[in-house]
Amino acid sequence: MIAAIIAAAGSGERFGAAIPKALIQLGDRTLLEHAVAAISAVADQIVVTAPAGYEKQIQSLVGDDITVVAGGKTRSDSVRAGLAAIKGADFVLVHDAARSLASVDLIKRVAAQLQSGDVAVVPVLPVVDTLQKVTADGAVVAAVDRNALRRVQTPQGFTYSVLKEIHQNAADATDDSTLALSAGYAVKAITGEERALKITTPSDLATALTFLGNATTFSTGVGVDAHAFGEGRELWLAGLHWPNEIGVEGHSDGDVAAHAICDALFAATGLGDLGSNFGTSRPEYQGASGVALLKETLEIITKAGYAITHVSVQIIGNRPRIGARRSEAIATLSAALGGADVAILATTTDGMGLTGEGKGIAAIASALVIKR
Ligand code: CTP
Ligand code: MG
Repeated sequence: MIAAIIAAAGSGERFGAAIPKALIQLGDRTLLEHAVAAISAVADQIVVTAPAGYEKQIQSLVGDDITVVAGGKTRSDSVRAGLAAIKGADFVLVHDAARSLASVDLIKRVAAQLQSGDVAVVPVLPVVDTLQKVTADGAVVAAVDRNALRRVQTPQGFTYSVLKEIHQNAADATDDSTLALSAGYAVKAITGEERALKITTPSDLATALTFLGNATTFSTGVGVDAHAFGEGRELWLAGLHWPNEIGVEGHSDGDVAAHAICDALFAATGLGDLGSNFGTSRPEYQGASGVALLKETLEIITKAGYAITHVSVQIIGNRPRIGARRSEAIATLSAALGGADVAILATTTDGMGLTGEGKGIAAIASALVIKR
């Protein structure tokens, strides 16, 4: 029995996105989904460690066959949390969601090495750059011979008992083979692969995209919506309720930002528009919230084989002031869109036109989608 732990609980600080790194889109799916798809070909049981608060979202992303647990403060803590959810395995593969494109071939080679008797296996690659020791103030003090050095990747493989033992006393390291080495175990290095690069920054994501080749195509769409203010209405905008603001007229909740995004997504995918998808012929959507329409739109475009790469929406109006609640609004819209990358901007129109005259609120959205 081969089990796998996919460490996906990091926040992706160096990547600098608003969502955890594992949920970032690479081509047609998230980093985590790539990793899960490859490791599923080899492992009988998979445990994913999720960032705290994202357990549910990640569970629905990876499906019920996979165990999702909350990760810990450090990667080693996360691996321990994953290990605790594994009940009896001969071997355990420990993989980083950030090494999303590690191939099935590599994963199989790690497993085969374990099956042939090694207790700890690690994929490595040679170092190509010249290496030097440099002080904090920039003085080069020594050259380092790179010939004996290797870059260490994942998935790493261990017998269940070895992985259990090296994680017994809450030790911390950036990977598990280092813990195995410190505990005195023989660690076997096998040949890694460039496509198993660790996606750390946006430029790594661009590099990873090149490994996917041209099997995917992008398309974009624009969507616009506007509603007039109406007395006695609650204001819903960008998925949020705005108390003490005047609401807008309309059969729905009048969330122009959400509606513009829905239309941008329909435009990018060629799947009609808000009216044709949720119009009068489908009375169940009368009065639906903006968030509900976004979720339904996501479902429609996902069924048609599209995934969202990026969505942006600009709200045009004198009020409300978006800035103070921007991150809350981004989180709400992003969650409704399955964790998609969302940007929200706002502007006034210098007193001109519908919204400048204070008659209502408008929004323009754009969407970039990829066809699987
Ligand atoms: N990881 C984890 N739990 C943590 C920290 C990291 O499960 N507490 C996972 C990450 O999700 C990632 C892998 O370990 O898949 C390798 O870590 P890294 O690439 O450093 O990811 P992050 O820690 O998310 O990124 P950063 O260090 O830039 O914040
Ligand atoms: Mg990290």
